[in-house]
Amino acid sequence: MNGPTVWCLVPAAGRGTRVGGDCPKQYLPLAGRPLIEHTLERLATHPRIAGLLVILDATDTRWPGTTMLNGKPVLTTIGGMERSDSVLAGVDALPDVVGAADFVLVHDAARPCVRLADIGKLIELAGATDGGLLGAPLRDTLKCADSAGRSESTEPRDRRWRAFTPQMFRRAQLSAALREAARRGVNVSDEAMAMELAGFAPLLVEGAEDNIKVTTATDFALAEFLLARTAT
Ligand code: CTP
Ligand code: MG
Repeated sequence: MNGPTVWCLVPAAGRGTRVGGDCPKQYLPLAGRPLIEHTLERLATHPRIAGLLVILDATDTRWPGTTMLNGKPVLTTIGGMERSDSVLAGVDALPDVVGAADFVLVHDAARPCVRLADIGKLIELAGATDGGLLGAPLRDTLKCADSAGRSESTEPRDRRWRAFTPQMFRRAQLSAALREAARRGVNVSDEAMAMELAGFAPLLVEGAEDNIKVTTATDFALAEFLLARTAT
């Protein structure tokens, strides 16, 4: 896998409220090690990733202080209230070696099962455009619920995709898009949404569905099962 390398931002400043408990989910054990270690190790293994910048909560006492992984620098910075605030803080904290027009990956700490081949595919395909994201076309029929939890209507499924990470955009364009969304008071749930608001059309790159975001307590067992199967 040859070609230019990119830095990867890893938002890990969330509290994991849907998992519950005192310990944020990124530090809960998965196959005997904190979840985030799996994610960082996988990213650092990728030949196209040059360095990692991990975005932590200001009150985080669990970060192990890693500064190097697989020979690659691991930096940290402090995130914000929303995921988009954390990502913007990360973009601002990137080292100067990352130029304004250079691509930057953003990958959730909570997605340890991302496949190396899909990261490579995203870098290749989206790198030939203004950027893009991993995702997958919707498989299930989509329902809109009423307030009583009953199905009110059926939403069209055609052209609908689920958005995953990594997402990859140029440093200055991503920074400007996130700042503009914040200025307008729009709560963007991913980088691609900020880029869409800024007038871009991020490339949707189909990735494996097992790139799950560990969200609830039951996801840990599934992620453990998937980890061994998604190593490449
Ligand atoms: N994240 C972040 N800063 C925030 C919120 C989230 O860096 N203010 C990170 C999380 O740590 C996670 C990723 O963004 O790696 C995806 O967010 P999510 O799965 O929603 O994690 P949490 O916000 O921690 O979980 P919850 O929404 O259940 O509280
Ligand atoms: Mg969240």
